[in-house]
Amino acid sequence: MRVTVHRKAHFNAAHRLYRKEWSFEKNDAVFGLCNNPNFHGHNYELIASVTGEIDPETGYVIDIKILKDIIKSEVEDAFDHKNLNVEVPEFKDLNPTAENIAVVIYNKIKPKLNSNFHLEITLYETPRNFVTYSGN
Ligand code: NI
Repeated sequence: MRVTVHRKAHFNAAHRLYRKEWSFEKNDAVFGLCNNPNFHGHNYELIASVTGEIDPETGYVIDIKILKDIIKSEVEDAFDHKNLNVEVPEFKDLNPTAENIAVVIYNKIKPKLNSNFHLEITLYETPRNFVTYSGN
């Protein structure tokens, strides 16, 4: 039986969406308010979903404490109350859109899990705007 275990987490972070090589006008046209040169913040909500077989001995797919600790060290400690563009090396040359943040989070958490697990990342940038990524 394959079951999916979900863990929710939260972080606040600031970002700016722009391309260095574009003019301010072009960045403004493409990214609008998200191109504010003084940055702006979001309350990101993360759901990490791990799918795997139930271990017949424990009854768990994954001990959720392990998942909680991975999210804390890989995401919360790295992103919470940070300026993603300035303080998080993964976004030095990568636009910190919700799409790219979800991929970065996936790439940080996936290697920490048993390779038999399927991982899906759901990332809310606002209560109504969210993205999902599960590899590829
Ligand atoms: Ni934004």
